[in-house]
Amino acid sequence: MERGKEASYSQSCRHRLASRFPSAKVSTSVMVVVLLSLLTFKWTEFMSVASYAYNSATFNSVKQVGDEDEFAFGILGVPWCRTRTKNMVNWTRAELLQELFVFVEIYKTRPIVNNSNGMGFDHSFGLWFIARKLQPVLAIESGVFKGHSTWVLRQALPNVPIVAISPKHPGHYARKGSAYVDPNCQYFTGRKFTDFEDIHWSSVLTEHNVTDASAVLIFFDDHQNQLRRIEAVRKFGFQHLVFEDNYDTGTGDHYSMRQICDQYHVPGGGHDCSDGEHEALVRMRRQGRWEKAINISELCGDDGDWWGVQGYARDNFGHKHRKIPHSQHFENGRYVEEILDAYWEVPPAASPLLTDQTRYDPARTVSPILLSGDQALFQELGLEDVPRNAFNAYTQMAYVKLLIPTDPEEDLLYQQVPSD
Ligand SMILES: C[S@@+](CC[C@H](N)C(=O)[O-])C[C@H]1O[C@@H](n2cnc3c(N)ncnc32)[C@H](O)[C@@H]1O
Repeated sequence: MERGKEASYSQSCRHRLASRFPSAKVSTSVMVVVLLSLLTFKWTEFMSVASYAYNSATFNSVKQVGDEDEFAFGILGVPWCRTRTKNMVNWTRAELLQELFVFVEIYKTRPIVNNSNGMGFDHSFGLWFIARKLQPVLAIESGVFKGHSTWVLRQALPNVPIVAISPKHPGHYARKGSAYVDPNCQYFTGRKFTDFEDIHWSSVLTEHNVTDASAVLIFFDDHQNQLRRIEAVRKFGFQHLVFEDNYDTGTGDHYSMRQICDQYHVPGGGHDCSDGEHEALVRMRRQGRWEKAINISELCGDDGDWWGVQGYARDNFGHKHRKIPHSQHFENGRYVEEILDAYWEVPPAASPLLTDQTRYDPARTVSPILLSGDQALFQELGLEDVPRNAFNAYTQMAYVKLLIPTDPEEDLLYQQVPSD
């Protein structure tokens, strides 16, 4: 979509939102108006929205066994990465709603209609939203596949160069179906493929006239150990990262931010591997309902090792994995906490009661933008026209802002996890 059209569409959406929520401007007052106009939902849901600065601390309590609602969000804990600075991302629900109106129309024009094995609706919106908010001077993506995420970045950043890294060029997929190849993108693909960590970034930034690495946004969807990726980006002074597959503890094929931050001392973090205990019983019940919910024996290895995936830090699509002791996992969490400035998980667009999604378990998820009572808003947004399976790929996409290293010695805190 051209910039002008997008802007005028955005304006018209703002008018629609403003007529729905008079005096709508992105401010605290609109939050109040939005909240008042949505007072049809249950008290528990209201509490979740009221704390919609996305601070996980609100999701740390596990309800009593037998008390849980299959659609209740966060009742099995949502471990949230702590930051030394205690900074939080203050993107509000009102802003997310406003941008959803714009994005639904853009999503309808996607060139790759079926992006299975790639991003669905929730993460496409999340990436677009974050990129629009940050307005970087250059975007880098690692893990391109057919090019859907490149297209999403392009919609958010019409004039910004993109650098895309992936073993195969997206054009490769055009032979069998749809693909997106961007005209203003430097591809490190095919014979030019080089892993992110081996690219000479100072030369690439110079080529694009970028003098400030902290004005660059990096999007990782390459299924590599995210701790390894963080270590690599810090060497070049990059600060703004989005991780697509931020897998929950016990799941997925790489050690993720969510897994690293799942610690006993973090609200909503840590696990109890005892059979027959509270967590085991709740998990057992939820497993029948949600495809990605795992029971306690899948969560915990033979020795009761629950961190990462049964005590392993996985890497490179699960082809590599290394068992790490709990002390190492704890140190990894400490290291990340020391170097993080902000952490934010993209919320799902809408409750599964509206989207019919069947995969992620709300019990381990932040509250969605639209709650179960928001049927009218769901329709007004046009979300009913989005194919139902596009809501099945949510894996806690995270925006991560790193502090600029001041003292190279500080990274010695971290004993690197060998990836093999
Ligand atoms: C899940 S797909 C990416 C989906 C894509 N971002 C989307 O939704 O449109 C993962 C991609 O990462 C690529 N990949 C594998 N190893 C990689 C590496 N070391 N660096 C970058 N990409 C890698 C795969 O070939 C695959 O295309």
